[in-house]
Amino acid sequence: MDEVVLGQRGRAAIDFHCAVRGAVAKLQRAVEAELSDAGITAQTMPEKMDDRHRLVDATLAESATYGARALLGEWTAKDHGPICQDAFAEIREAVEPMLKALEDGPASLELDEALKLPAYFEQVWFHRTTGGWDASPHNGFVHGELIHKRILTRVFGGNIFGHRRTAAQRAPRRDYRHILDMGASSGHNMVALTEAFPDAEVSGVDFSARMLEQARRVANARGWAWKLYQRPCEDTGFADESFDLVSSYNLIHEIPPRIIRAVFAEAFRLLEPSGTIIMSDVPRYAEIDRMASWRFDWMARWGGEPYWRAASSTDLVQVATDAGFTDVDGSVLPGGQPYILVARKPEAAW
Ligand SMILES: C[S@@+](CC[C@H](N)C(=O)[O-])C[C@H]1O[C@@H](n2cnc3c(N)ncnc32)[C@H](O)[C@@H]1O
Repeated sequence: MDEVVLGQRGRAAIDFHCAVRGAVAKLQRAVEAELSDAGITAQTMPEKMDDRHRLVDATLAESATYGARALLGEWTAKDHGPICQDAFAEIREAVEPMLKALEDGPASLELDEALKLPAYFEQVWFHRTTGGWDASPHNGFVHGELIHKRILTRVFGGNIFGHRRTAAQRAPRRDYRHILDMGASSGHNMVALTEAFPDAEVSGVDFSARMLEQARRVANARGWAWKLYQRPCEDTGFADESFDLVSSYNLIHEIPPRIIRAVFAEAFRLLEPSGTIIMSDVPRYAEIDRMASWRFDWMARWGGEPYWRAASSTDLVQVATDAGFTDVDGSVLPGGQPYILVARKPEAAW
């Protein structure tokens, strides 16, 4: 689907949005320079996050740079969805036959129309997506192909897919046969897992029917027999020890801490002895300096990310250890993203 050609208006709107994001990054640096001039640095920031926000708000109350950065933070967070919806509307007639054709192929998708979505998921419009992930029939394509491939990978240095490949390469074994991706969404992490372990059967679970439909297209376009299920990550319904590798990428910051714990417990149940988890997500606040975590926290406030702070403040090494995992290793990649946790289910777990 990389070959999809956008219309002129869609391209121009996306280019403008990305240019604004570039300007926002410069404004952020200018804001932090103003903070430094006022004596506020990573070393002097208060410990509590709310106190940090209060201090910055008070210190830069009169700063035009701060005001502009906040305004554009809010604007870019809201803008990316509508401009990509419009870009899709412009090419809809041309791409719809391809989207339809890609419903057929080796990948399977099991949707559950009776699935009752929990309030922590259903009541949130993640990433400021109007109406939630499934509000529009083409949200999977709009998010997976347009927002991620035409915007996010540009504004995050061009490497968001490389990060997923790096995470998959962290696996300590090469002989996995049954892999599960939790929070599979439109399938980007499943692509990385399939490329790293081409002989494995790769399955994915997610709440979002629209995202899973896009994952099915991604798999069918490549001739891959992914098995996709609309199920909760914390209660997948698969039999004990069904998998030898369980992975997730950017699921954890979108669920509250009690569900994070339930997800690790479910991964433990699903793994064969000696099986591996690779859970990747945004950096842990405890592992980055106070200015960097304030910066993330500020962005998360605009970004439709109600669980980001609680999730980023959760010690995932402890969560994995409590769930029964051993050889737990969690670290942030050089460059600050993502945090990758790798752990093993012990041989004699029971
Ligand atoms: C940021 S996306 C994941 C991105 C994807 N893994 C990738 O590599 O691009 C988070 C996904 O998790 C799903 N999700 C969140 N909580 C879930 C849960 N408890 N059970 C199943 N899916 C969940 C959402 O529907 C969403 O598609």
